[in-house]
Amino acid sequence: MFGMPFADKVLEQKALLQEAGVSAPHIAVDLGCGSGFQSVALADLGARQVHAVDTSRALLSELQTHAQGRPITAHEADLMDFDRIGPTHADTIVCMGDTVTHLARRDDVVTLMTKIAAALSPGGRFVLSYRDLSVIPEGVDRFIPLRSSDDTIMTCFLEDSGDSVLVHDLVYVRSESGWALNKSAYPKLKLPQTFMTSAIADAGMTLDFEINRRGMIVLAASK
Ligand SMILES: C[S@@+](CC[C@H](N)C(=O)[O-])C[C@H]1O[C@@H](n2cnc3c(N)ncnc32)[C@H](O)[C@@H]1O
Repeated sequence: MFGMPFADKVLEQKALLQEAGVSAPHIAVDLGCGSGFQSVALADLGARQVHAVDTSRALLSELQTHAQGRPITAHEADLMDFDRIGPTHADTIVCMGDTVTHLARRDDVVTLMTKIAAALSPGGRFVLSYRDLSVIPEGVDRFIPLRSSDDTIMTCFLEDSGDSVLVHDLVYVRSESGWALNKSAYPKLKLPQTFMTSAIADAGMTLDFEINRRGMIVLAASK
């Protein structure tokens, strides 16, 4: 799915966190942690405790397999409630790998930025990475090949839906009886970079890092 082994993805995310100004995390929160690339990277950067939040029990269980003794606490919860389940303050909060676009409304994104600013200790660091889907391809270019191997072919189709984009995942899996097609669809918020940088600034954080890495926007700010 990610095109590289877990350990390599952790190293990639660790380097990205360092580039974004995370040097010595102490208490960290990983919002929408998934299987834990950033949680493990934060622990490997020296965090004394990482609070990893996700709604997916299956992904949190994967994370626990990868944690291997690192100080990572998994919380099965909505990330919008992170301020009620984790520590009262953290010096590092991350929301990476396109998690933020999964929120239902732009208002939720604004609320989340306010909660993050309130939970960060003075001088604390916030890192966000996501894909800006505000301009999507047109016509047949909306069919996007993602990955393929001898027995799996993953393609997605992007459908414009106002403030969001409906992402249709089409996954062909080869079995003994032939190819089977698995279909699923979910909305992702359109978050123009200017909207996101304003939301971060309006929440009281100072943005000082803004890059586009292979289509993934990475923003980092301090309180
Ligand atoms: C695209 S994945 C990114 C995961 C990980 N950060 C990475 O880089 O691989 C988005 C993750 O956010 C989680 N998620 C989506 N909405 C959420 C919510 N409201 N609260 C908590 N987790 C959520 C999903 O379960 C998924 O694991």
